[in-house]
Amino acid sequence: MIRKARLQDVEAIHALINKFAGKGFLLPRSFLGIYESLRDFWVCEINKRIVACCALHITWKDLCEIRSLAVSSRVQNKGIGGDLIKIAFCEAKEMGCKSIFVLTFIPGYFKRFGFRKVSKDKLPHKIWAECISCSKFPDCKEIALVKKL
Ligand SMILES: CC(C)(COP(=O)(O)OP(=O)(O)OC[C@H]1O[C@@H](n2cnc3c(N)ncnc32)[C@H](O)[C@@H]1OP(=O)(O)O)[C@@H](O)C(=O)NCCC(=O)NCCS
Repeated sequence: MIRKARLQDVEAIHALINKFAGKGFLLPRSFLGIYESLRDFWVCEINKRIVACCALHITWKDLCEIRSLAVSSRVQNKGIGGDLIKIAFCEAKEMGCKSIFVLTFIPGYFKRFGFRKVSKDKLPHKIWAECISCSKFPDCKEIALVKKL
């Protein structure tokens, strides 16, 4: 079942994201960061366990970002990641958003959903405010992709 995240999901979301962050697949998120952006998050719950998450963050006029997409290893390749991305598209459209972007180490996966690579300088400067506090700054290898909705 895919649903909006609740306060009780934060520990599981934190564990999921930071497990993959430890392997270099995702940027880490703190408990504070997750609590503060919890309304951005969708989760997939199976047998009362959180097995996947994805956040849709409003960036600027007409623009949202997909963040922190993570699917537990034991349920990968079942379409859960794709379902979370499609739900983010729907939510973004309902809000009147025109484009959605992602910063990722796996552009091939997002291209399956219609994202196309763009130069990072095409994105609003606002997004770099968070990058400055990241341990990977300024040598981050994340690739920017955008999809028009
Ligand atoms: C990437 C991830 C979210 C995919 O979720 P998922 O639920 O397993 O993926 P889906 O079931 O929606 O899609 C599976 C398909 O995507 C493909 N795929 C998976 N990872 C891929 C990658 N890195 N690059 C290209 N394609 C990929 C699979 O081969 C599969 O293809 P098929 O349908 O032709 O068999 C998941 O593997 C994950 O959490 N990875 C670690 C964290 C991460 O890298 N997150 C992305 C951060 S931006």
